[in-house]
Amino acid sequence: MLEMRHVTKIFNPGTVDEKIALNDLSFTLNDGDFVTVIGGNGAGKSTMQNAICGTWLPDAGEILLDGIDLSSLSEHQRAKYLGRVYQDPMTGTAAGMQIEENLALAARRGLRRTLRPGIRKAEREEYRQRLQELGLGLDTRLSAKVGTPSASRSCCCWTSIRRRWTPKPPPRSWN
Ligand SMILES: Nc1ncnc2c1ncn2[C@@H]1O[C@H](COP(=O)(O)OP(=O)(O)OP(=O)(O)O)[C@@H](O)[C@H]1O
Ligand SMILES: [Mg+2]
Repeated sequence: MLEMRHVTKIFNPGTVDEKIALNDLSFTLNDGDFVTVIGGNGAGKSTMQNAICGTWLPDAGEILLDGIDLSSLSEHQRAKYLGRVYQDPMTGTAAGMQIEENLALAARRGLRRTLRPGIRKAEREEYRQRLQELGLGLDTRLSAKVGTPSASRSCCCWTSIRRRWTPKPPPRSWN
């Protein structure tokens, strides 16, 4: 469950450019909820997502995920609990790494780092099978770098790939 409690974010406070982007925003999302946020340019949609992900800290309010108070955690500290899928898939992936390496990184989010092979055989097979379901041909290009044209052609569906692979305990993803 995600809770936003009275979150406020003001850009450039006390200047002529002051902008109250979020004004006492509160809502609760339960597990399994699927929400579409609609608003005009500058309404605050991205600001709200940035607040959840910790791009910066809100000026007021609290953000809780499954009861864990994220409010004072930095972006990289929150990465343990949640994932983010960007509109531009290349922003949320490592272009110089292979498709399977990106998937392995996503699958290990929040887990302890150890010195082991990056991808085990069984994992590679799981990636292959699950990518096959998408019907994009990515399952035959697991070792292609995400930034290469052959892989990036399919990146519009990268979001759904990463959204599906959630380690345990599962992080939450927002687009
Ligand atoms: N880093 C920033 N510095 C100053 N003002 C900002 C900053 N980020 C956003 N704003 C302002 O906050 C308001 C909300 O912006 P935001 O980007 O959240 O809107 P949005 O709903 O995502 O818009 P769009 O549909 O264009 O993506 C806008 O007036 C914007 O100019
Ligand atoms: Mg936006």
